[in-house]
Amino acid sequence: MSRSPELIGQARALVAARLTPASAAHSERVARTAVELARRVGVDEADAELAALLHDYARDLGHEELAAQVEDLAVPVLEFEQEHPQLLHARLGAALVRRDLPGVGEAVLSAIEVHTVGALPMSDLDRVVFMADMIEPARNYQGVDEVRATCASATLAECFRVGYGRTVRHLMQTGCPVHPISAAVGAQIERETGRALFDPPEVGR
Ligand SMILES: [Fe+2]
Ligand SMILES: [Fe+2]
Repeated sequence: MSRSPELIGQARALVAARLTPASAAHSERVARTAVELARRVGVDEADAELAALLHDYARDLGHEELAAQVEDLAVPVLEFEQEHPQLLHARLGAALVRRDLPGVGEAVLSAIEVHTVGALPMSDLDRVVFMADMIEPARNYQGVDEVRATCASATLAECFRVGYGRTVRHLMQTGCPVHPISAAVGAQIERETGRALFDPPEVGR
C-alpha cells in the first residue's frame, strides 16, 4: 500500500496544504534527492519518495503547538528532547502521518521518525532520507559538496558516516548539545565502516 502512486499523490497534497511554501519546496527537493540516492544504492524508490516528502510533516509547528500535539498523541519524549523540542518534529511527524495517512507503512514511518538524530539500528531507507535531507540542492553549508560527492559514489554506510559525522562535529564545534543517542549511533557507524566517525580536519580549505 505504501508503494502506491495514489498515496504519494495524497502525501504531496497534504504537505502542500500543511507546510509553508518554503518547507513544502524543501520536502519536494528532498524527495527528488532521495529517489536518486535510493536508485543508486538499491532502496525502494517509492518508499524513499514517500518518506522524504513527509519527513518534515511537523516541522512548521511552533513549540507550544508541538508540545500540545506530542501530549495528545502520547509521543514518547526524552528529557533532552524536552529541552530541545525542535527535535521532536521528527517523532511527532511520524505519529501525525500514521494518523493522517493510514496507508503509510512502518518502514516509511521509521525514516520520518529518525531523520533528525538517527536511531539504533537504522535501515537503508532511514539513511537514504537522512542523507537526502542533508544534500538536497538548496543546502549550502560548508562542505556540502564533499558530502554530495560521497553520496554520488560511496556505499550507503560510508555516506552516512560522512553525513552523521559532520552533523555531530558541527554541533560540537558550535557549542550545541548533542543528543544522547548520537554516541551510540556514531559507535555503530564506526563498527560498520571500520573508520572513525570524524574525518581529519580539512587542510587548506
Ligand atoms: Fe526535519
Ligand atoms: Fe528537512
